[in-house]
Amino acid sequence: MRVLGIETSCDETGVALFESGRGIVAEALASQTAVHAPFGGVVPELASRDHIAKLGPMVRHVLAEAAVRPEELDAIAYTAGPGLIGALMVGGAYAAAMAYALGIPAVPVHHMEGHLLASRLEAEPPAFPFLALLVSGGHTQLVDVEGLGRYRIVGETLDDAAGEAFDKVARLLSLPYPGGPALAALAESGDPARFAFPRPLRGQGLDFSFSGLKTAVRLAIDAERAAGRLSDPMRADIAASFEAAVVETLADKCRHAVASIGRERLVVAGGVGANRKLRQTLEALGREQGFDVYYPRPALCTDNGAMIAHAGACRAAAARREAAPGIVARPRWSLEELEPPAEPVRPVREAVTEAR
Ligand code: KG4
Ligand code: ZN
Repeated sequence: MRVLGIETSCDETGVALFESGRGIVAEALASQTAVHAPFGGVVPELASRDHIAKLGPMVRHVLAEAAVRPEELDAIAYTAGPGLIGALMVGGAYAAAMAYALGIPAVPVHHMEGHLLASRLEAEPPAFPFLALLVSGGHTQLVDVEGLGRYRIVGETLDDAAGEAFDKVARLLSLPYPGGPALAALAESGDPARFAFPRPLRGQGLDFSFSGLKTAVRLAIDAERAAGRLSDPMRADIAASFEAAVVETLADKCRHAVASIGRERLVVAGGVGANRKLRQTLEALGREQGFDVYYPRPALCTDNGAMIAHAGACRAAAARREAAPGIVARPRWSLEELEPPAEPVRPVREAVTEAR
């Protein structure tokens, strides 16, 4: 089965071709960083317009690189939500129109399910069931995953998402947009023990809260600036201390969740999953506590078309071609509303073995 995947939920245009037995055959990614940087954050209308300009050429590029004609596609998967409504509509309209023209199904994909399943694209995919830590710019969730479409959110943030906290603190430190990776880079040279920032809701259930931590960092920055001490090394110490507080908090909740739910595997996904310190800390925790930790390579953690093509392929077998496919675009959409596909889905690795 060949599935073209389209991701346009926020500020990355992602296109990829997934083929059962082969995995991702070709992909393209266009970041809108330069478009939004002057505004310090994503401007929704500019995001939609940029997706419109890039999507067509990128789809043609990916098909050409894979040497696949549109008529050879079996389905077109697209991110149907959650995300920015205008941006979602661009990908949805493109996918629905192309699917209609080709007479194949358009498969709406939940963006977070794309993230959740991304590590199954790697050489050693995690088997179901597993516990997932989803950490992106809009979500921070612990999800108990029994199988495809069988998701139970066991913990989530009560206010800011982890990535959002990274982005906001980066702004306070005058780092360029997008803040998360810039803050992580600055933290490399800092002292994580210099500031004792709070570890919010530590030992209190599986929910998260990051807005108080952000305020504590803001007060520290204000105090150091007022004292004339906000040098570059000091900014690095603040960044490292903040990063340590977030990473420790995430790791602490993962430890509790794995133990209380009794899972043997932890899967990390979403943009913050690209954070080196988080990956190292969770890996050490897994070794200590006796569970396996899986995360996709950093490029599959942040938004991309490959995860949408793959999640779409997992669901495409059960998708039907509609006479006139509608466009599904849901800015708010919980993972718990998803259901398993009507037909059983084989894991990628099994499909690979069969094709050989
Ligand atoms: O999954 P993603 O690409 O987009 C959403 O679905 O939100 O996640 C983006 C988030 C941003 O908040 C970004 O700052 C954060 O992931 N991020 C990082 C790193 N790379 C991306 N945060 C911390 N360290 C990183 N290395
Ligand atoms: Zn994402």
